[in-house]
Parts: sequence; structure tokens; C-alpha cells
Amino acid sequence: DPLNHADYIRSRIRTVPDWPQAGVQFRDITPLLQDPKTFRVLVDVFVHRYMDQRIDLIAGLDARGFILGSVVAYELNIGFVPVRKKGKLPYTTVAEEYELEYGNATVEVHTDACQPGQRVVVLDDLVATGGTMMAGVKLLSRLGGEIVEAGAIVDLPELGGSQLIRQAGIPLFTLCDFA
Ligand code: PRP
Ligand code: ADE
Repeated sequence: DPLNHADYIRSRIRTVPDWPQAGVQFRDITPLLQDPKTFRVLVDVFVHRYMDQRIDLIAGLDARGFILGSVVAYELNIGFVPVRKKGKLPYTTVAEEYELEYGNATVEVHTDACQPGQRVVVLDDLVATGGTMMAGVKLLSRLGGEIVEAGAIVDLPELGGSQLIRQAGIPLFTLCDFA
């Protein structure tokens, strides 16, 4: 049952107050990855969600979206594309600038990372202001990808990102939230 999975996963996320700066309650997913049982439950929720949806490609957001996204792609037997922070990708790229809870950033993806019409799921660990997820969605859309859904482990609804993403017409799936 996905609701029980959500409670199980939520209970294993660590909250670190005032990191990386005062006022931020950092939701740390490393305990989820460290425990093999929890890691498997987490990955399986996403795999089961997408296994019958004819997904062609998983795009994972730098850096924690790589951890989730790559194992989900592997289990679905489909390709994985890294959406990276600026300056890391060697080939020609497209870029999107965005703001987050604590600063600015630019993400990039290779221009040949997605073929027009491919059905893409964009994954990250967490949605806060939604800037990172929207930037990833925009990049894959610019390459002609059909964004089936954006997915994350955690939603921080008070930061408004999940609402923003859904208002933009992008379906969003998150496993649990922290108000
Ligand atoms: C965190 C998190 C998401 C993003 C969410 O990553 O992993 O990618 O912030 O925030 P937003 O919804 O306000 O955009 P961060 O930018 O801290 O980088 P990291 O993955 O390199 O730690
Ligand atoms: N990214 C942006 N805000 C965050 C938070 N509060 N916890 C973890 N990752 C984040």
C-alpha cells in the first residue's frame, strides 16, 4: 500500500535544523539510502508507478536525483539522463537558470539527451520552491520530450513549488510531505 510506504519513508527522513543556513529545516534523505530495506521500498514505489506507462527516459536532477533516478531507470530497463549543474557536461548543452530556497543556480543537459516525442519522467529527491524541478522539466521539454510526470520523494508544500509545478500543467508525484 503506497500510503504505508509513504509513512515508512517519511519516518526515516532526518531533519537537520539551520542547515545550510539559519531558518532552513534540511530534510536529509541519506538514512533512506543507507538502510537497504528502506532503499528498496523507495525505489520499488517509483518502479511500480512507471512500469506500465511506456516511459522512455528518466531524467535525474543533480545531485540527489541521480541516486534515485538511475536505479529507477535501471529497473525499468530504460535510459537515464543527468541534468547537471552548470559547467559539468562536456558536449553541447541547453541551460535553464532558476532560484532556490538558498541561492541561484543553472542546470544544463546535453542537446542530444532526449529525442523528440520520447516519454520522460523527471526525478529529484525533493521539491521546495520548485525551481530545480521546473528547470529540469523545461530543459527536457525544449528537447522535444513529452513530460509524463515529475516525481520526488519529498514535497515541502509551504514553499509553494508543488503548486507551481501543477499550475504549469505538469503532473507531480511526491511520496510524502513536510509542512
Ligand atoms: C536541493 C534538492 C533539490 C532542490 C530543491 O538540491 O536536492 O534538487 O534543492 O529545491 P527547489 O525546489 O527550491 O529548487 P540543491 O540545490 O541543494 O543541490 P544538491 O543536490 O547539489 O545538494
Ligand atoms: N532543498 C531545498 N530546500 C531543502 C530542504 N529544506 N531540505 C532538503 N533539500 C532542500
